[in-house]
Amino acid sequence: MAKEKKVESIEDLPGVGPAIAEKLRDAGFTDLITLAVTPPADIAVAAEIGEAQAKKIVEAARKFADVGNFVTGDVVLERRQHISKLTTGSQALDNLLGGGLETQAITELFGPFGSGKTQIIHQLLVNVTMPEERKGLNGEAILIDTENTFRPERIEQMSLALNLDPKEVLKKIHVARAYNSSHQMLLVEKAFETAKQNPIRLIAVDSLTAHFRVEYTGRGALAERQQMLNRHMHDLLRFADIYNAVVAVTNQVSARPDVFFGDPNQPIGGNIVGHTATFRISLRRSKGDKRIARLIDSPSLPEGEVVIVINSEGVRDG
Ligand code: GTP
Ligand code: MG
Repeated sequence: MAKEKKVESIEDLPGVGPAIAEKLRDAGFTDLITLAVTPPADIAVAAEIGEAQAKKIVEAARKFADVGNFVTGDVVLERRQHISKLTTGSQALDNLLGGGLETQAITELFGPFGSGKTQIIHQLLVNVTMPEERKGLNGEAILIDTENTFRPERIEQMSLALNLDPKEVLKKIHVARAYNSSHQMLLVEKAFETAKQNPIRLIAVDSLTAHFRVEYTGRGALAERQQMLNRHMHDLLRFADIYNAVVAVTNQVSARPDVFFGDPNQPIGGNIVGHTATFRISLRRSKGDKRIARLIDSPSLPEGEVVIVINSEGVRDG
């Protein structure tokens, strides 16, 4: 009897030749798991193949994809016992979050331009290097910078304010610029490699949605954009689980003329980002250097809001 062929990539699926594989890849279906969890009709449209053919491909992908497995509740409990918290720099904001940003979860910071998202990310990059007694995670950080807003000088300033050696802190922050959304997604794969050699406990994506917003415009592109964002979020969540890390992402909210559909004041990525993020913090400007941070639909914490300040030292109580 012929040995059963190992199915690892999409080309290995029965009925997928090089031409179909190329169409699938061009449409963003680059692995078995994505094919397994996408409705065949969506694949047919996105990859421009027949629906019957898409159905066959999905059935095959479901058979071979590593869809994970069930674990018992005690294993989940054991894993959750390792959850740690990372300080934001503001005691009030930490309290609102039940002690700080949780590992094994995604925290989304959303708000209009100038609301302090990038500043908070800088503060987290510094804080994660602090020992646990100071509410850090004694670790290193990865920043996926999509808007070229990382400023090492600001890290120095924030480090000095905490009596940390700026040079040491900077050596623990691994930064990559992402030039477009595909690059941004690939950098998460790269992050897994970086984390094998360095004790990464924070991965930040600033901004999560900016590239997606400009690349996928118009009503027709919405489904595809949401699908990609969904995958990106789940890659990040996987990183959070495997490395017991904090994931912090930013999302701009604005009434902009390039938003063609829906409420232009909604954070982009809407449902997908909102549902995958465990904690959502909305930020808005107040007087001077004050900002109001509000916790939105958290599974386990009451809603509420606090005042923080962003000053030369960094993020502090308001
Ligand atoms: P977008 O990325 O444009 O959506 O905005 P954002 O939410 O990321 O805003 P960001 O975090 O860049 O906040 C900008 C504000 O932070 C500025 O208006 C300043 O009030 C404050 N800020 C930025 N850098 C410094 C700094 O070096 N010192 C002080 N004191 N404040 C700063
Ligand atoms: Mg910013």
